[in-house]
Amino acid sequence: MLHDRIERPLPETLFDAASARAQAYMASAADRPATPSARAIATLAGFREPMPQHGTEPSQVLHRLDEIGSPATVATTGGRYFGLVMGGALPVTIAANWLAAAWDQNAVFRWTSPVSAELEDVALDWLGALFDLPAGFGGSFVSGSSVASLTALAAARHAAFARAGWDVEEEGLAGAPPVTIVVSEEQHPSIFKALSLLGFGRNRCLRVPVDAQGRMRADALPRLDDRTIVCVQAGNVNTGAFDPAAEICTRAREAGAWVHVDGAFGLWAKTVPSMAALAAGFELGDSWSTDAHKWLNVPYDSGLVFVREPKHLRAAMSATAAYLMEGEEGAREPSHYTPQMSRRARSIEVWAALKHLGRDGVAEMVERCCAHARHFARELHLRGYKVLNDVVLNQVLVDFGSPEITRAVIADLQSGGICWCGGTVWQGHTAMRISVSSWATTAKDVELSLEAMDAAAERAR
Ligand SMILES: Cc1ncc(COP(=O)(O)O)c(C=O)c1O
Repeated sequence: MLHDRIERPLPETLFDAASARAQAYMASAADRPATPSARAIATLAGFREPMPQHGTEPSQVLHRLDEIGSPATVATTGGRYFGLVMGGALPVTIAANWLAAAWDQNAVFRWTSPVSAELEDVALDWLGALFDLPAGFGGSFVSGSSVASLTALAAARHAAFARAGWDVEEEGLAGAPPVTIVVSEEQHPSIFKALSLLGFGRNRCLRVPVDAQGRMRADALPRLDDRTIVCVQAGNVNTGAFDPAAEICTRAREAGAWVHVDGAFGLWAKTVPSMAALAAGFELGDSWSTDAHKWLNVPYDSGLVFVREPKHLRAAMSATAAYLMEGEEGAREPSHYTPQMSRRARSIEVWAALKHLGRDGVAEMVERCCAHARHFARELHLRGYKVLNDVVLNQVLVDFGSPEITRAVIADLQSGGICWCGGTVWQGHTAMRISVSSWATTAKDVELSLEAMDAAAERAR
């Protein structure tokens, strides 16, 4: 065999050392301050040096990375990081990620990585069942929800212009017939970014008013037609609220309009039987975006896009050239469904998480995070603080008494290291956001964080 003839010694001790260092880091995650100390951040200056002329031994490179890098990480894999909407990483997904790194697969084509393409097929199938997606849907693995929405809206753009007899991929937007975009006043900024990248313009869409929870008001929808794209949300980034999808999708369906569902984290409610009513109707959409790096708790970065009729996604994403060998007839060729060509094989960790958890495990993880969020809300209310939202999912908004006090509590927590929460302004009220999205959060983490919040509020008053 060829490898008998070529000497390529493997640096086994290097890999052992990397594994030992990574394991030591993970073992410390629960006790690590949520944010790095000022000293650890200052020490990062140690990385700054002129481009080295000569190389460094791999073991020394690793040593330097661990010594300077590890202390300056944000402990998002611990159980007390409640900023943005951030998942941790299930141990099985970290292990799968290590093996996948050794494989170093390029997921662009089936022939560049049969294993990645197969795991994409399998995982898409499973995700379709979890999210109640329509038969025949298509999808892909991208870097996160922002790119998933960009991808889905490119498919929607193709379909809307095709109905108007315009080939937008070939002709572009100059001189194109009008297409209307409908969003809510509470649409996530990533949708506006996607709309601007697609040439629709952030300001040219119709903004539908919302209710007190941030849900799009279906009664205020404009007239829809088959050249309209409506964006709805499963999970408002502040309140966790869900737009009334059944009503909006039914209206859109009657008019021939396209509905895109931004379900970055909220789509995972579809996996929980007790949340069926909350998540009802989103399966009636035409495209969906969600994250695996949020609630499925796989390592960054990992997003998912699904489209009811894959032909629109393919028309928007496909690129061909003589040197790009086509795969087997009839098999899904990954590159036709994503904006990227070369990319890492994200399906590996997604498959590992789903295989490890099973349907029950996914539902239990999502439900557990929501139970922690409800506990936060109940306890904060009992302690006299104002919870501003209906806690229907994993998001809690708290007002500690006044904007000044709330801001002081947030600053105190952020510098204290016990837990990390960010701030927001919710319909005119300054609030602290708590987002419980990590598999690693335990009841003890919640208790410790509640004590820290109470103590910070006490100091702020
Ligand atoms: C509703 C919603 N959409 C989109 C995004 C963007 O996701 P990502 O950062 O993975 O691109 C988020 C992030 O929190 C979100 O909450």
